[in-house]
Amino acid sequence: DALMIATDSSPQPQAVAESPGVAAYFIVLNIAPGAQAEEAVRSFFGNAAGLRRSVGQRLLGRELSLVVGIGSDAWDRLFGAPRPAALHPFKELNGEKHRAPSTPGDLLLHIRARTEDMCFELATQIMLALGNSVEPVDEVHGFRYFDARSMVGFVDGTENPEGAEAIDATVIGNEDPGFEGGSYVIVQKYLHDMQAWNKLSTEEQERVIGRSKHDDIEMADDVKPANSHIALNVVEDEDGNELAILRSNMPFASPSRGEFGTYFIAYASDPGVTELMLTNMFIGRPPGNYDRLLDFSSAVTGTLFFVPSQALLEELAAGNPFQTGDTETASSAVDASALASASASAPASAKSS
Ligand code: HEM
Repeated sequence: DALMIATDSSPQPQAVAESPGVAAYFIVLNIAPGAQAEEAVRSFFGNAAGLRRSVGQRLLGRELSLVVGIGSDAWDRLFGAPRPAALHPFKELNGEKHRAPSTPGDLLLHIRARTEDMCFELATQIMLALGNSVEPVDEVHGFRYFDARSMVGFVDGTENPEGAEAIDATVIGNEDPGFEGGSYVIVQKYLHDMQAWNKLSTEEQERVIGRSKHDDIEMADDVKPANSHIALNVVEDEDGNELAILRSNMPFASPSRGEFGTYFIAYASDPGVTELMLTNMFIGRPPGNYDRLLDFSSAVTGTLFFVPSQALLEELAAGNPFQTGDTETASSAVDASALASASASAPASAKSS
């Protein structure tokens, strides 16, 4: 039936729905100037899965995964039109008290595994492959903190969709032909004021998050504050259906420098869902009723990437596979007409050979 056919023919997504891992590397890169750098990055897209296999095969059971994301400007530079329908630069948000900045990033590498050595090795092999075609923008090493606690001590990821729902929430279907099996990802690096946070009593902290700290149970609706983190992050479409994203956040820290953070990373088939949640958090729902968690957390980065399906990522090594002959002819009209007059007797169908 139609559903079977659609399922069979839709391309395999990258490892977006993988569990957060025990260790994770979040690497944001810019592409260096010049056509040579662009070529090197495109050919890396063809090798990425192979590098992941080379490292991942070395130790069994380490669940090494890789997701490669491409920023909006980078897509234009590397591939031009056509482009994924919802790909755009991260939109900065300015609430009355808190700001979510938009920061640069051409490529995202999201590497997850059960041990950090795997993340290190894959990141190193990828950087060897990319060489000087890229420049570092940001790199964060996250770790699983006890029972998946976030830096603020509450279990993070509980209400994530699972199984088929996770695929549904994250993977682009036939709404954007050509980009099926793809996804969008938004990342934000947050730094926490742990001194201020730790001055709150556990009960006050629970009213900030909207769940109990020890056993991670959601507060009843009539006690959960309207400015709590989870109250503002439950969003619905016009028909009242709850909209979901898939978060793979990790804490990170450098205790000797007093740096304590959360790397927020969320996959969605429609980045508008994550953006709606961000609007609720930073502007407020209603405006002014912003997320109380932000009084203890500052967003220092914010970037949006398109995540091609596994098959598209590999195809992109040879350029944009959806660029039609028409587009090429139009952009090099002089060459095309010269070719046409030079081989006037050749059949039209032979012109691209
Ligand atoms: C839930 C932590 C940023 C969206 C949660 C929970 C915690 C948490 C502890 C409760 C457990 C769970 O269901 O996962 C944090 C921290 C953040 C952060 C420490 C960084 C400062 C964000 C951002 C978004 C977001 C930026 C969206 C743009 C959500 C959603 C839920 C959630 C959708 C589940 C709501 C529900 O269905 O109950 N977060 N979060 N979080 N968070 Fe965050």
